[in-house]
Amino acid sequence: MTISTISKPHERLAQILTSEMEAVNTLIRTRMASEHAPRIPEVTAHLVEAGGKRLRPMLTLAAARLFGYSGDHHVKLAATVEFIHTATLLHDDVVDESAQRRGRPTANLLWDNKSSVLVGDYLFSRSFQLMVETGSLRVLDILANASATIAEGEVLQMTAASDLATDEGVYLQVVRGKTAALFSAATEVGGVIAGATEEQVGALFAFGDALGIAFQIADDLLDYQGDSKTTGKNVGDDFRERKLTLPVIKAIAQATPEELSFWERTIARGRQEQGDLEHALDLMKRYGTLEATRADALGWAAKAKTSLGALPDNEIRTLLRDLADYVVSRLN
Ligand code: IPE
Ligand code: IPE
Ligand code: MG
Ligand code: MG
Repeated sequence: MTISTISKPHERLAQILTSEMEAVNTLIRTRMASEHAPRIPEVTAHLVEAGGKRLRPMLTLAAARLFGYSGDHHVKLAATVEFIHTATLLHDDVVDESAQRRGRPTANLLWDNKSSVLVGDYLFSRSFQLMVETGSLRVLDILANASATIAEGEVLQMTAASDLATDEGVYLQVVRGKTAALFSAATEVGGVIAGATEEQVGALFAFGDALGIAFQIADDLLDYQGDSKTTGKNVGDDFRERKLTLPVIKAIAQATPEELSFWERTIARGRQEQGDLEHALDLMKRYGTLEATRADALGWAAKAKTSLGALPDNEIRTLLRDLADYVVSRLN
């Protein structure tokens, strides 16, 4: 396949970064193993072999390549970022009691919650070992902060779940924490390791932050509008988990007293009955909140693209621009 025949920007990026991505995947395979506890490679292989888009490691490699980096620390950092991501997915599926991930049954379903939590901890620890190998305190600082921020985002989301007072401000804080923090750390460390200026690192942060927010808003919209065959996850999970995401927050903000009692019963009290998800979708359509959520996602993608202005103008930057369009193109 030539680059021009590949339509998805993350696949084109993967093509341009083929040898480095291969090095990342090899490193991931080597470091996810454990000689001492067979359960670890069983669980990690299940999740890692299922693939995943590898968006975050690609961002790290791309950010380094934007500046013509020619060392090999970016490969370690890319693997670090994917390990942090994989660890959070293992933990997240326990917290969300999810049954499907990357088109496969989740590890918590195939094994148990204990295995997912402990193997997630193992992957986190492996990520620390990898980042230390770069010898850069600056990247350690960025990735350690991101790990703490992700956990804060997940905890904030947990305490905000089923609370009808959750507004768009709290939602943004959750999304910035649980998702965008790793996107922005991924782009930042790529730039830092390649010797980018402070202004450029700032631009990489802004790009990753806005891209991550756009990505999560899109993911939340797909939870109501998507097709489980393409997303690899079940439709309506957020509603069943009583998670307040943008389409619902926007519908609650406009609810009549009667509609408010529907949201109180289903989300606040969790007394869900058959047909409730369909009714919730009707309300979202009545107030156009799915379209409004899509517009928000597009707005963040546009912001991401604007941030690229301060970065070197080359082929990689063009692909990062296309990537911003791609994360929201899943909504077309
Ligand atoms: C899933 O991220 C978690 C979210 C932030 C929504 P991805 O959709 O990037 O997951 P994989 O790695 O491709 O499976
Ligand atoms: C993803 O969040 C997990 C993290 C970003 C830590 P969600 O719970 O919203 O995403 P999915 O739908 O499980 O992938
Ligand atoms: Mg989840
Ligand atoms: Mg979650």
